[in-house]
Amino acid sequence: MNSTLRFIVMGDLHYVQEQSHQRALNGNPRGVTEVADVTRNLWLTRNVTPEVISSIASLKPDFVIQTGDIIHGHCDNEELGLREMREAMELLEGLLAPIFFALGTHDGVVKHERIQVEQYVYPIIGKSLGTAPLTKGYYTFEKAGCLFIFLDYTTFVKDDEQAAFIKETFARSGKYEHVFLFAHPPLICVGRPFFTHFDFVNTVLREIAEHPVDVYFCGHTHNQVSTLHKVGGHWLPQLKSSVLGYPDLAPVNLRDVRTILPDPSSFDYGWGYLEDSAPGWWEITVNGESVQADWHVLRKGVQGQLRWRRGEKAEFVKKPEFATTSGLALPSLGEIRSVQLRAAGTNCKTPEGYRLSINGTDVGALPRLEYFDSRQFFKLEPKFWPLLEKANRIEVTTCEEPMCIGGFVLEVETAAGWVRSTVTDYYANTDRWDHWGKAPVEKIVPGQTIVEELAFG
Ligand SMILES: [Fe+2]
Repeated sequence: MNSTLRFIVMGDLHYVQEQSHQRALNGNPRGVTEVADVTRNLWLTRNVTPEVISSIASLKPDFVIQTGDIIHGHCDNEELGLREMREAMELLEGLLAPIFFALGTHDGVVKHERIQVEQYVYPIIGKSLGTAPLTKGYYTFEKAGCLFIFLDYTTFVKDDEQAAFIKETFARSGKYEHVFLFAHPPLICVGRPFFTHFDFVNTVLREIAEHPVDVYFCGHTHNQVSTLHKVGGHWLPQLKSSVLGYPDLAPVNLRDVRTILPDPSSFDYGWGYLEDSAPGWWEITVNGESVQADWHVLRKGVQGQLRWRRGEKAEFVKKPEFATTSGLALPSLGEIRSVQLRAAGTNCKTPEGYRLSINGTDVGALPRLEYFDSRQFFKLEPKFWPLLEKANRIEVTTCEEPMCIGGFVLEVETAAGWVRSTVTDYYANTDRWDHWGKAPVEKIVPGQTIVEELAFG
């Protein structure tokens, strides 16, 4: 069959209706990042999302696929959650194309929020399919000899009905010219360890190893990473996207600020953008046996591209350019405008518990670190800037609470931009993640002090 098809894949959207989040906005948030998250996503909803939607509509795709976190969700009550989802659906009508969804963790996981999905999302998918409203978040459709598979990460339970659906669906996938797979979380963690369910990943990867798919699209981390992974005897493109991001913010190369997790022999790294910059989406063109995936960035056009033929390893034809920030010499004191230690962590809550020393001098305590938030760092006071050298010994004390911490990188700001040191691994003091295997974290004992070297070029 020599068929042509063109569709768009867009990741996390986090539409915010301001009135639905008064609790957080009036100073009563549930988590340490909720106020910042709602405020940021409200701004993006108003100032960026409409432009993203009109840009996608101007491409006139056959259809659009969104891979979850349509809304920010977790609203003040059921009625306000429904309002947020209804408004998001109205906004998405601006795509002027049929739309399909793979549900995300903000769309309605708990029972009283599930009504948001049942009332507004399932009918839209049904309309796009030309059927009655769906009753489940996992489904398939066929188009031009291609199979499209959607999984519902939010309700997945090991060995349940959806697991059976996955098995049956992959078993019949071989007869299609191309197979496209969509769900919310990454199957392989690249920049953020453990940010997906082990059972979901294992169930799906087991099937992909036996029945290869063309590509897997996801979101969830908001880092926009494009990679190829060896699964069974095949190479799987895992393409993430998010339309959240400040268009004018200089993009941060993920590899400059995060340890890249997979074993280098098992994957090819195309590119990665740290969360918050470069709102982007995928445009996929299927032409008979050939597929082309163009990565668009708002106001910047196509920044990256892959091509493949079914059964063959995809090739990165074009990769985005990043400003060089690592491997550079430490700037002189007179050039420095600010210095920070970027860090990532989960459950590092004890106040003053994570003290930092640089080259033998205690310089303060790290802030509370949770969720591997991309915006967390420790600001180094100017009086400590003379401590910096080409190679720096950093020591971080840790607490007894079960936690993971790491991704330490010194960032020096000058008038010309950022200069970054090397990046450290991650450390965990609990067996909570042992089932993932030895990589990607190093085990420490509770209360152990982490000692690392951070070097400039
Ligand atoms: Fe999200």
